[in-house]
Amino acid sequence: MLSDQSRPVIEQTIGVVAERIPFITPEFYRSMFEARPDLLDGMFSRSNQKNGTQAQALAGSIAMFASWLLTHPEGYPDELLSRVAHKHASLGVLPQHYPIVHEHLFGAIARDLGDAATPEVVAAWDEVYWLMADALIKIEEGLYAGQANSVVFAPFRVAAKEQTGTTTTAITLEPADGTPMTPAVAGQYVTVEVRMPDGVDQPRQFTLVPGPEGTRRIAVRLDERGEVTPVLCHDVQVGDVLRVSNPYGDVVLPEGEGPLVLASAGIGVTPMLAFLDRLVRQESQRQVLVLHADRSAEDWALRELHEMLVAELPHARLETWMETPGDGDHDGFMDLGAVRIPANAQVVLCGPLPFMQAVRSAVIAQGVPGRSVAYEILGPDQWMLHDEARET
Ligand code: HEM
Repeated sequence: MLSDQSRPVIEQTIGVVAERIPFITPEFYRSMFEARPDLLDGMFSRSNQKNGTQAQALAGSIAMFASWLLTHPEGYPDELLSRVAHKHASLGVLPQHYPIVHEHLFGAIARDLGDAATPEVVAAWDEVYWLMADALIKIEEGLYAGQANSVVFAPFRVAAKEQTGTTTTAITLEPADGTPMTPAVAGQYVTVEVRMPDGVDQPRQFTLVPGPEGTRRIAVRLDERGEVTPVLCHDVQVGDVLRVSNPYGDVVLPEGEGPLVLASAGIGVTPMLAFLDRLVRQESQRQVLVLHADRSAEDWALRELHEMLVAELPHARLETWMETPGDGDHDGFMDLGAVRIPANAQVVLCGPLPFMQAVRSAVIAQGVPGRSVAYEILGPDQWMLHDEARET
């Protein structure tokens, strides 16, 4: 809980701090990586640094946390903290890293605000930072303690690589040493560390898709302009060893017996495959509406598996939208105008942000409460931070 001294100071300065985040962020990262270049080797994504909006997630979430404390004095934004803590744990963030981020973030804030950064202002924001850091550290400790091993990354050998859809490669990874594997919950992801041509390790998260027992299987959609996916899709060979984290992620299959809607676009199909596989193993009798949008039938990654899992569920139905005319049940982007969504459905969305925003609005318009709609963002979250409707 925010102290009585800090509350009015945060109230007065939150507007200006939030407004300055885009200017504070580059300076924060510049100074941190100058002092600690090792953090760009295996911890931070270099691509996220090039993409200004994504880089703002960290500093932006502190402003969001502060405004939450002002409006909810008794609680914390648990959903935001959980998402960040899972991401951090998958990257091996430890308590001793927090003072580093603090030093460089606050240095950047002080330089940006100039005279406005009075000792009272700095002390109040310090309090916000450490409230958030302590909350994250606590969740992260719990996540680490729940693992079957005490390592951040374990070596996994590439056991198989298959092209699936025009631009996606499914990679099956088997343990390359005796590190015990934490069982994954359907919908979770792993961080994979990939060695770049300049010798630097770059981490990326990939949702786990159904694969052989005792393995981790991921589906990598190639981004030719990206840094990591071309290496995974083109250069990594069967037999190569990659470092893979334990499974993390808190977007899991909504429990219960009520109807489910699993709506995906493109590579957003991956968590849906894990959910469907889980439902098949449970011999679920739930009503499941599976909705998928893609560029074309050829692009649809793991299509056969998707169709097969739906076919194995007695009360599941698949409906598709393909941008290439004639390839799916419908042409063009997903449009739920003609699809009846039960008002008591639990909805899970995964795909590009505009897709999820459009589908979420469409299901809410059909009477589904906002809290029954979960979504998985592949990449840093630029939505939750601004999504006030989540509490409805
Ligand atoms: C990602 C917040 C401290 C390393 C993130 C994200 C947020 C965040 C919001 C984006 C999550 C997502 O949606 O994917 C915070 C806050 C911190 C903090 C509020 C302090 C109170 C740290 C520390 C480290 C760290 C101490 C390690 C030095 C990372 C990394 C990512 C990340 C590597 C992945 C994104 C990227 O590569 O750019 N953090 N973080 N964070 N954080 Fe933190």
